[in-house]
Amino acid sequence: MISTALPIQNYALLDDDECDARIVAAKQKLGARCVILGHHYQRNEVFKHADFSGDSLKLSRNAAASEAEYIVFCGVHFMAEVADILSRPEQIAILPDMAAGCSMADMANVIKVNKCWQELSDLLDPDETVTPVTYINSAADLKAFCGDHGGIVCTSSNTQKVLEWSFSRREKVLFFPDQHLGRNTGYRMGIPLDEMVTWDFEQPLGGLTEAQIRQAKIILWKGFCSVHQMFKPEHIDRFLERYPETKVISHPEASFEVCEKSDYVGSTEYILKVVADAEPGTRWLVGTELNLVNRLNELTKDQGKNVHFMSPTVCMCSTMFRTDPQHLAWVMENLAAGHVVNRIQVPEKEAVLARKALDNMLSIH
Ligand code: 13P
Ligand code: SF4
Repeated sequence: MISTALPIQNYALLDDDECDARIVAAKQKLGARCVILGHHYQRNEVFKHADFSGDSLKLSRNAAASEAEYIVFCGVHFMAEVADILSRPEQIAILPDMAAGCSMADMANVIKVNKCWQELSDLLDPDETVTPVTYINSAADLKAFCGDHGGIVCTSSNTQKVLEWSFSRREKVLFFPDQHLGRNTGYRMGIPLDEMVTWDFEQPLGGLTEAQIRQAKIILWKGFCSVHQMFKPEHIDRFLERYPETKVISHPEASFEVCEKSDYVGSTEYILKVVADAEPGTRWLVGTELNLVNRLNELTKDQGKNVHFMSPTVCMCSTMFRTDPQHLAWVMENLAAGHVVNRIQVPEKEAVLARKALDNMLSIH
């Protein structure tokens, strides 16, 4: 047994094949004590080691159901926080690279959301009239804010159900941090665009008038995903001119205009399923992260399917990409040697409230 944790510096220069062999050996040694969860945006060299893969909802259910002592989350920070909150206290959630965050999640913080709530309190009683809904892509303290104010968490695969749940309790929704997911879903539910206002968190009263706030059904936080904003409606138009038979499928973090031009809109898991289940010989233009699209192309090309990435420029989620075989080998070999590195632990008080908002979501079928 090694007495102190192995440093990451020992791994930085290892090549991918060496890391691969070491990850496999450590995994074998740990057996059922360790589970690796992999989000669909992970690069292949990491993704192939995942025991379970999925979108945020599926992976949070995997984390909640896991019996493993260690949950190694190959994804981003908020996902490992959710794994910690939903697992039992003696289970340990690990994020291989602590710098793997989510730039969209960082666009909302609890100070600004509290300020917004306070400003809304001057006009209406938000605890009676507004359900706070946070996208799972948010820090644990924002989930705790929702738990504390009768709110709920959503993911890209259950937003409509979560909004229905919210409107059955209160007349309005404050939706953060992703404006696009909220707008795209609200519109598909029949809410007119002028009843979904955008809260600019840099402006007093979100840059809105009292009348706009009073008549709004959904107040959308002005956050967005830097990867999905790269997809433009003209990319779809140009592609369809060349291949008019193409089916277009996008993630709901893409803009309203892109989603309106898409035949299908849904979570990463949904995108994979729709294309995998499609007729052989079909052509697909996909508006989501590059690693997923490349893998989907590889998986379906034997069926004669053509899968294309929507943007002409390469755009990956750079924070998902932070998790590399070197970091995974480092955490796995440390676990096998009895050392926990990069533990994600949400403070107890915050975790209890965040769990309330997550349980509200998980209770919806
Ligand atoms: P999914 O829950 O659809 O996998 O989305 C997570 C995400 O971060 C998309 O950018
Ligand atoms: Fe966050 Fe966008 Fe990356 Fe998803 S793709 S993890 S929303 S930055």
